[in-house]
Formats: sequence, C-alpha cells, structure tokens
Amino acid sequence: MGLMPSAWAQQIKPSPTLEIKSVADRLRLEGKQIYDFGIGEMNPELPVPHLLKAAIAQAVMDNATHYSPAAGDPELLDAIHADLRLFGLDYSPAEIVVCPGPKDAFFKICVTMLNPSARRNRLVAFAPTYESYENLPVLLTGKPPIVLQTDAHFLPDPNQLEDLLSQDDTIALIVLNSPNNPTGAVYPLSLLGELAEIIGKHEQICVLSDEVYRTVVYDGIEHVSIASFLPDQTVLVGGVSKEVSGTGLRLGFIAGPEPVMQTVANVEGNISSCVNLPTQKGYAQFLHKDADLRLRYEIRDALCVRRDALIGRFSELVEDALWERPSGAFYFFPDIRCYCGRQTPDGRLLDTDEALALYLIESANVVTVPGSKFQRPGHLRFAYAVSLETIDVGIQRLAAALNRLCA
Ligand SMILES: Cc1ncc(COP(=O)(O)O)c(C=O)c1O
Repeated sequence: MGLMPSAWAQQIKPSPTLEIKSVADRLRLEGKQIYDFGIGEMNPELPVPHLLKAAIAQAVMDNATHYSPAAGDPELLDAIHADLRLFGLDYSPAEIVVCPGPKDAFFKICVTMLNPSARRNRLVAFAPTYESYENLPVLLTGKPPIVLQTDAHFLPDPNQLEDLLSQDDTIALIVLNSPNNPTGAVYPLSLLGELAEIIGKHEQICVLSDEVYRTVVYDGIEHVSIASFLPDQTVLVGGVSKEVSGTGLRLGFIAGPEPVMQTVANVEGNISSCVNLPTQKGYAQFLHKDADLRLRYEIRDALCVRRDALIGRFSELVEDALWERPSGAFYFFPDIRCYCGRQTPDGRLLDTDEALALYLIESANVVTVPGSKFQRPGHLRFAYAVSLETIDVGIQRLAAALNRLCA
C-alpha cells in the first residue's frame, strides 16, 4: 500500500456544497443548460464592485506584494474598526485580525478556543447548520458538535440552550449565524438579548457570531450583532465573500476581546503568514469609500429582487411545499417532505431529500442542496444569487418535475 492520509484527517468530510458544485460543473461540461441554485455565490451574476477591483489592481501595480503584519495591514484594521462602528460595534484595531476568508477565520477561532485535551472543548451549533461548523471541530478535537434543532421559523430556542448549558460543562464555543445559511432567517433583537443573557451566565463560553451576511438583510430590518449585548464573550466573523460577492478574494475578519485576538494573530501568522496584501489594501480603500454602505446595499437590493421573484414563482407553482419567507442572506429553504415518498414516472421511490435533489438534477437540470447536508432532512436549499431568468425557468422546470411524481 502507498501513502495514506492519517486516520485522524480522514474523519473530515468533503464540503457538501462544493460537491454539489462539481456535479453542476460536470453537467455544464457535458453541454447541458443548468439551473443552478447550488453554490452560495453571487459571482458572476452580481460581480465584485468596480471600486474594489480597481483598488486591488492598483495595489498590485504599487508593489504592495509583500507580507503584512500577521493580524493584518494597519490601514485595513483601521478601516474595519470604522466599518464595525456603522453596526454599533466598537472594536479597536488591536481587537481585529484578518484571515484568508471566513471559513479560515472559523478554523482559526476553533484552533484558538478548542483545547483538544481539555474537558471543555465542545462546540454547539444550531441546525440547519452550515457545513463547516460540523466538520472542522472534529478535525481539532475528534468530537462532533452538539447540534440543537431550531424551531419552525429556524430560530434557536433559548430554553433548550439554557437547559443544555446548565447540564453540560463541556461546552467551549456556541456558533450563531444570523443572517443564516441555509435558511435566510434573521434572529430578532429580543432573541439575541435572551441568548446573550443565558450565555452571559457562563463566562468561560465563547460565542462565535458568524455575520458574513450582515449587509444582506431585507424588509427594513437592521442587522444587530450579539456582540452588542455580550462583547466580552463574543468573537465576530465577517468578510468579503458574501457582502461584496468576493468569494474568490479570500478575505475574512475576526473581531473579539484583545487577549483572544492576540492568540488568533499568532495562529494566523504561523498558518498563513498573512492575507494577500493587494486584497487587504483594496478592501481598506473600498471600506473608506463605502462608509455609507451604499455599494453593499445596492448588492442587497439586487438580491431582494431575486428573493421576491423566487418566492413569487415558487408559491405560484409548487403548491404542496411549506416555507418560511427568508429575511436575509440569499437562501430559501422550503420543507419538501410532502414530495418524499413519491415515485418517479419510471417507478423509482424518492424516499429522501437527497433522492429528490438527485431526481431534480437528472430530470430538470435544476441543482439544489438537500437539507440533510445541513442536518435538517426533508428540505431543499436554493441559493438565489442567480439571474432572474434562472429563477423563472428553473422554478418552472422544478415544478413540472415535481408534478410528474406519483403519490
Ligand atoms: C454562514 C457562512 N459562514 C462562512 C462561510 C464561509 O465563506 P468562505 O467559503 O468564503 O470562506 C459561508 C459560505 O458559504 C457561510 O455561508
């Protein structure tokens, strides 16, 4: 036998959304017209703002191609400090670290906060849950996260969390994600206050607040971070991936209490050295010029048009599914359990959301992600940062495929 990866590393599962992306890419290569609601990405439909692209290009031409300090280029740390103030948060530049993307930021927080040999090293996540929260802690501690289900509106139940925290002394990190992937739920202010009060009674527990969709909130709702209630126990994650469509730019940031952030910076320096400097310089320029959030809200508004188009089409054509109206991010997560258990025209039983998602790819060229990949079976996730035509034709094709199923 040749080289084998360690059994420890083999515990990590592939990213389900990237797996689905490769299915869609393969079908495209075969020349098929795909209606792709799979990957959570706005590019190329809603590209990175010109201002940011030009600033990155200028930084390259200005030879900003060396290392920055591990925590980040001082100009960018200042700009993020000012930007967080727009959301009512006061972090000094010394309390901020930039990383190569939000997923990387999440990993470095786990490295910083989860001690493999300590008793208190478990992570709590709420389902439906974003894939990395599930996979990365296992790699570090060998222990899967404790997953709590959310309610019918995809919101965490404070009583359930309170019970868990009073009985279980192994919890080190609680992940909250609002606006949420995969549901589009936005946690109300009162809920954040309740959660903060409960968690605040356990001062060794850290909240990891994933706010990568903080500027993508609709219907006049304002984004609020749990850090405004619980600054001493929260580390906040943001980044350029979603709010400016910069998934390939790989820049995320973390803000939190200074002692924690100093260690995060050491982790960053040892693993990545720093984030690529042209992107840092470009984002600093962008944040200065977008101090009124106008460019980011233009992207949000374009996404809102898509949300409304998707919900309109879906409610008109797909009668049996149940769904919640998403208030943020760019995901729609209907409950399609009524279609599970039906048969395809050629007699194949579709007993799970995964079987249904596969059927939709094969028979309608419509790509979605099954809810079981997010620990909530019986649902499908639609990422709707796509063209209005994809929404219109894709949902028609999906509805026709569902209508061909026999009870
Ligand atoms: C909630 C959430 N957090 C973090 C990430 C990670 O972003 P990236 O893959 O750009 O690092 C994503 C990506 O989909 C996400 O949806």
